[in-house]
Amino acid sequence: MKKIKFGTTNEQVSAVVFGCMRLNKAKDPVEVIQTAYDHGITFIDHADIYGGGDCETIFADALAKTSIKREDLFIQSKCGIIPGKLFDFSKEHIIEAVEGSLKRLRVDYLDSLLLHRPDTWMDPFEVNEAFEALHQAGKVRYFGVSNQNPMQIEFLKKGVQQPLVANQLQFGLMHTGMIDQELQVNMKTPGSFDHDGGLLMYSRLHDMTIQAWSPYQYGFFEGVFIGNEKFPELNQALEEMAEKYGITPTGLASAWILSHPANFQVIAGTMTPSRIVEIAKASEVQLSKEDWYKLYLAAGNMLP
Ligand SMILES: NC(=O)c1ccc[n+]([C@@H]2O[C@H](COP(=O)([O-])OP(=O)(O)OC[C@H]3O[C@@H](n4cnc5c(N)ncnc54)[C@H](OP(=O)(O)O)[C@@H]3O)[C@@H](O)[C@H]2O)c1
Repeated sequence: MKKIKFGTTNEQVSAVVFGCMRLNKAKDPVEVIQTAYDHGITFIDHADIYGGGDCETIFADALAKTSIKREDLFIQSKCGIIPGKLFDFSKEHIIEAVEGSLKRLRVDYLDSLLLHRPDTWMDPFEVNEAFEALHQAGKVRYFGVSNQNPMQIEFLKKGVQQPLVANQLQFGLMHTGMIDQELQVNMKTPGSFDHDGGLLMYSRLHDMTIQAWSPYQYGFFEGVFIGNEKFPELNQALEEMAEKYGITPTGLASAWILSHPANFQVIAGTMTPSRIVEIAKASEVQLSKEDWYKLYLAAGNMLP
């Protein structure tokens, strides 16, 4: 398993993250967790809202049936979304959400806590109070954000004293906005539009780890692009190149993310043990720059 440095911390963590959003759909949660662990995936991503909280409980129940020790895992959760109602970065909500996650996960601390989606009412000094209280109580080790742009992160930094070490963002072969914008700067093409304020450059400049969520999906959860007849050129390129590197198209799609020098993590959400193995094995494969661009183009992108 490839390891990466987690943001500005001194932690070396697995480049592939086991995403738990769909854990309540797993046929055998024990088997998937054990498979991930056996193949070096020790970074676990949760959120207080996954499965309405059930995913954290299912994880704890399954983990108890293995011999995996809590200290051998790097457990992350996210908070700040009250589904269908509001996004809430208030001190009260952040602390309450973390207490809930700790209880459901049956652990004493989270290795990492991310603010799930930006709350337009956020007050950086109030967030700071929550983070400091959690950190000082030994309940959260590191902090970060999710789905936030550079200006929002800078705004948070006005009050937050803890380093913000990670940003979880949608990214993959069919979701390349961060790259398109860099490659098409100053053009009148649709790809030149900077939706996110130079997010990739900002993350690299500040050594924030980008965690790529839904790496196999196109659109906003519209489906998986692997083996999908809507994307013949991409799938042909994936199949041919996968053979060259001795991995599978599924493995290659995440190796494409991990091969970029920005030090990404990839969050795999599959609950199929064989796919977990394919993704884990491919993490060690470093694509050449030529092949990386070849897949980028096969995914329907252009170079000016
Ligand atoms: N921060 C955020 O806002 C945010 C948003 C969404 C997700 N996330 C995180 O990202 C994680 C991953 O998200 P995701 O589950 O949407 O991502 P994903 O890994 O792109 O998708 C996994 C889903 O695709 C299916 N699938 C079908 N063919 C596949 C193939 N060849 N390879 C891989 N998967 C295939 C899987 O089915 P099987 O299970 O049947 O294999 C599973 O349902 C989540 O668990 C969560 O931790 C974060």
